[in-house]
Amino acid sequence: MKHLLLFFFAICLLPNLAQSKFEWPVIPLPNQYQLKSGSFLLSSKTQVFFTSRKLENSYDNLNVYLKQQLGFNLSRSNDSTQANCVVLQLRSASLQSAEAYTLNITANKILIQGDTSGIFYGIQTLKQLINADTKSQIQLPCLSIQDQPRFTWRGMHLDVCRHFFPTSFIKRYIDFLAMYKMNTFHWHLTEDQGWRIEIKKYPNLTKVGAFRKGSMVGKYSDSKFDTLNYGGYYTQEEVKEIVAYAQARQITVVPEIEMPGHSQAAISAYPWLSCSGKAQDVAKGWGVFEDVFCSKDSTYHFLTDVLDEVMALFPGKYIHIGGDECPKTRWKTCTQCQALIQREHLKDEHALQSYFITRIEKYVNAKGKQIIGWDEILEGGLAPNAAVMSWRGEDGGIAAAKQNHKVVMSPGSHCYFDHYQASPGDEPLAIGGFTPLEKVYAYNPIPKSLNAQEAQYIMGAQANVWTEYILNEKHVEYMSMPRMAALAEVLWTNVENKNEANFLKRLQKHFALLDKMQVNYAKGIYQVNYKVRNDVKGNDVYLELLANPYLGEIRFTRDGSDPRMESEKYTAPIALTGNIQIKAALFQDGKIKSRILVRNFDNNKATNKNLIFTKEPSKYYNAGHFVMVNGESASLPRMNDQWLGWSGDDMEVVLDLKQVEQMQQIEIGFLKEELNWIYLPREVQVFVSQDGKLYTPVGHLASAEIVDERHAIFKLAPTKARYIKVLAKNKGKIVAGMPGAGEDAWLFCDEIKVK
Ligand code: ACM
Ligand code: ZN
Repeated sequence: MKHLLLFFFAICLLPNLAQSKFEWPVIPLPNQYQLKSGSFLLSSKTQVFFTSRKLENSYDNLNVYLKQQLGFNLSRSNDSTQANCVVLQLRSASLQSAEAYTLNITANKILIQGDTSGIFYGIQTLKQLINADTKSQIQLPCLSIQDQPRFTWRGMHLDVCRHFFPTSFIKRYIDFLAMYKMNTFHWHLTEDQGWRIEIKKYPNLTKVGAFRKGSMVGKYSDSKFDTLNYGGYYTQEEVKEIVAYAQARQITVVPEIEMPGHSQAAISAYPWLSCSGKAQDVAKGWGVFEDVFCSKDSTYHFLTDVLDEVMALFPGKYIHIGGDECPKTRWKTCTQCQALIQREHLKDEHALQSYFITRIEKYVNAKGKQIIGWDEILEGGLAPNAAVMSWRGEDGGIAAAKQNHKVVMSPGSHCYFDHYQASPGDEPLAIGGFTPLEKVYAYNPIPKSLNAQEAQYIMGAQANVWTEYILNEKHVEYMSMPRMAALAEVLWTNVENKNEANFLKRLQKHFALLDKMQVNYAKGIYQVNYKVRNDVKGNDVYLELLANPYLGEIRFTRDGSDPRMESEKYTAPIALTGNIQIKAALFQDGKIKSRILVRNFDNNKATNKNLIFTKEPSKYYNAGHFVMVNGESASLPRMNDQWLGWSGDDMEVVLDLKQVEQMQQIEIGFLKEELNWIYLPREVQVFVSQDGKLYTPVGHLASAEIVDERHAIFKLAPTKARYIKVLAKNKGKIVAGMPGAGEDAWLFCDEIKVK
């Protein structure tokens, strides 16, 4: 009996055994299913039976897919009992939600039941099952699926302002969402760099505000611009077409009309909307701009007029009003804004922002709609009915849920698809960050700090695709796919049913469909990543190679040759000695799947030695002291975990070599990214000591002497020392005219080398 019980518990404890068996390329994974024996033969002779006109969209959606993939359509039948038939049956009452569906495949019949949206989702599952085989006669496995989503807000955002995308691409993007059973498309339509929606009452918004006289080129820190006229907008007819296209695919379009900040394009069209009233150009560069909507009656009239037209176009419940990143500079010196602060007894400009949003909310609510805004709308007090989109981490979403406000999670850490998804050196230029597919897949939109009652306010999550660095359609696809697939499973599939290994198995098969659809998806999942580690007991430094174990094995070389299947298999961290180059790649079934990772290490006298800082680096840029003595210079573009940074403070550090050493060169790496507030030191001084008490100066360099604006190199006469002190003087306050003027400059250091 005891043994039987143990056996029983052992079975219960086996994780996701049943789920991990589902290996057809269906994404997101259905929540419940039973696999059966036998198969249904789908061919051009198969027919479809349904009676309700509400199901025509689903039928068309299936046929468009079949035509594209297999070259035939299925005709309609008027007999539900006919053999070899797909039956779509409206049946909502017994299902848990309007989005739930059941799909039963038997040898004779495919039966999909649900509400209109449920049946559409059943069709999506069926389409993905069909992709499991590419012959003209498709054998579909007999099975039974009962499925419903975990969250009600399953969203993707697209910024069409920094770069503009035609309606043909918006439809393709919506097709991607539909394929993954996403139900919300957040269309970011207005920005500093362009107003993209026709508003009949204010034609200059698109005539003037939709075009800029140049765009930023390359890295923000390069501060380079072209002079090309750039822009575009959607007519109201096109907007209606997109809304209808989305609706037919069970997707609600949430328009975003940004206020009070990110409004320079509107101001360029109607300068009286700003505090100064001065003429402005549509912004060419990225960032946050100080000219924002003035909080005066004429602005509110304008905005409510705009919202009237917007609300008439978008039938959904939510209107996104932005609310993020609104500098208060202009409001502080504006007589009209200040008069309003007085009249309404507001505490300050933050309270004025809250007043702004609340006043707009009242208007939107009166028209039967709700507002949603970025988490800054919490500052100065949340408008009574507003929903919050949490982007600066989850704190805003947590605070809102605790105040019984609806929340959509979209934290930068997991949901910003403009971030890198593999090592930046191998990727197209991106805004920064690091959000690989595995990280997206691991996301849980319900924070641990919420209790069950509070958690009910989390409607779901969405990913944001900001397009400062995304110039064309293929690049949007690259940044959003396949991360969209991972997010879709986060939002649809219950946590207990998720399984990364199984997801990756299905995903790799699903790639065949993306290939057929000519989707430019990223292959970063195969990337080999690395970490340099130290052995705190001894002096050794190791290179740890990292790749997803479900995707293959790592092979590497130490002699500069390219890794092959016959090369050494990576099993444990590699000891790094002297000057060494490691090349590594991922292999699956004997084939190379990744780009080759190349890392150079320069093991020197400073490597893995102790650093004692007078002032520790800022908590925001402190990846640990070891990054400064790991033998490896940071790569560019910057990854924050390779740097230590100080805001306003000097870097003063003593390097203890543990014993007196002979040396001839000391090299220290710094970073210049002035547009991001990071400056080279004003001056670098180096001192040496044998006892740690008496220090002798051995050199100093001015900013201009830093080689390639990157390395301060001190060539010494042969010197003996145990301690090296480096004093790098911070630039101080940022001068007028530069981003961050008046604020403390940052000082960034990546490496000290002693030879
Ligand atoms: C945002 O990323 N500024 C919402
Ligand atoms: Zn003003």
